[in-house]
Amino acid sequence: MPRGAVAQAVAENMKSASWIREMFEKGRRLKAEFGDENVCDFSLGNPTAGPPAAFLDAVEACARERDPTKHRYMPNAGFDETRAAVAGFIANEYRLDITPDSVIITCGAAGGLNVVLRSICDPGDEVIVLAPYFPEYKFYITQANAEMVLVQTDRDFQPDIPAIEAAVSERTRAILVNSPNNPSGAIHTAEKCRALGELCGRFDRDDRPLYLVTDDPYRRIIYELDWCPTPVHFHHRTIIVSSYSKDLGIPGERAGYIGVPARTPEREPLLGALTLCNRTLGYVNAPAFTQRVLARCANEMCDLSGYRANRDRLCGALRDFGYELPSPGGAFYAFPKTPIADDAAFADLLLEQRILAVPGRGFGRPGHIRLSYAVVPEVIERSLAGFKSAIEQVR
Ligand SMILES: Cc1ncc(COP(=O)(O)O)c(C=O)c1O
Repeated sequence: MPRGAVAQAVAENMKSASWIREMFEKGRRLKAEFGDENVCDFSLGNPTAGPPAAFLDAVEACARERDPTKHRYMPNAGFDETRAAVAGFIANEYRLDITPDSVIITCGAAGGLNVVLRSICDPGDEVIVLAPYFPEYKFYITQANAEMVLVQTDRDFQPDIPAIEAAVSERTRAILVNSPNNPSGAIHTAEKCRALGELCGRFDRDDRPLYLVTDDPYRRIIYELDWCPTPVHFHHRTIIVSSYSKDLGIPGERAGYIGVPARTPEREPLLGALTLCNRTLGYVNAPAFTQRVLARCANEMCDLSGYRANRDRLCGALRDFGYELPSPGGAFYAFPKTPIADDAAFADLLLEQRILAVPGRGFGRPGHIRLSYAVVPEVIERSLAGFKSAIEQVR
């Protein structure tokens, strides 16, 4: 077979991402034809809640320092003061023991996940992912030369423990979980978190460690609960990956981190590998300025009231129209069932109403659409007649 312009594996990944590009292209054409303001775009998970005043104050204070040495390379795991601030935040937020030397600052949660996977996976290792899932996981996993093993969650998007257990093999290196979840908005219950941790414990061996990796960028974006359940207390080889992208509203600043709890066996070599891979993958680290700002505001967060109001308005109206959807307890996504099995065909029907939604098949769960309600409220108001008309057409 003749070689193409790009690597085979990347060509494969481009093919599997093509439906995202297709939606993007359709949306672009629609906006060009009718104007941005006449298209209701629910396709992007880009935070609309701006950063809090404390963040902007910290930006100003750091900019005023005018110290040329502060823009240089920093230690590969990040600035000490940033690691200390994030360790304090994690200890409080997760209610666990963690020291600053067990925190590595990363280029967003995305950078953190790539670093973790590269650090722990050998070629042919398997990483279990629960569907529906954030589609970039597949690329991160294949870039680490590992394979993604997909396991469906139940109808409420909760982990299906027997199904996960059945998917574990000798080659399973990690189970990757994300709650609150993109795309479903579901939060794993405390019982499921415990069961997940215990499941990992049943297969974990000192000569073949099984890691539980939690990808938590939406952890503090929750609407009913005071505290988001987590499996970190139930498995001693858990690695936390997260960022301030969503809860500080700063995804462009690339403020992510990895946390390795104090009780983790082989903590030293693991931290060494994570620190090395952060550098050798080319991130070096999160930008120096971002880290300095973060050191001053690691415990702050954005105002959730706009997301909550959007969620209630959009989900309430969709249910009134006859859409089936469990109430998303966190993140800023709704994931209703499509009234016809073909989710891509239904997304096309919504396009006719000038509504952009992403078919669930792109997240490993056909028969649904993902709607990001990180939008200005007028977009929701303008979209409602279209959602109603689309469901009426297929009834
Ligand atoms: C589930 C999930 N994980 C990771 C990321 C990447 O986040 P970051 O911007 O911090 O790299 C996202 C971004 O949308 C996400 O939804």
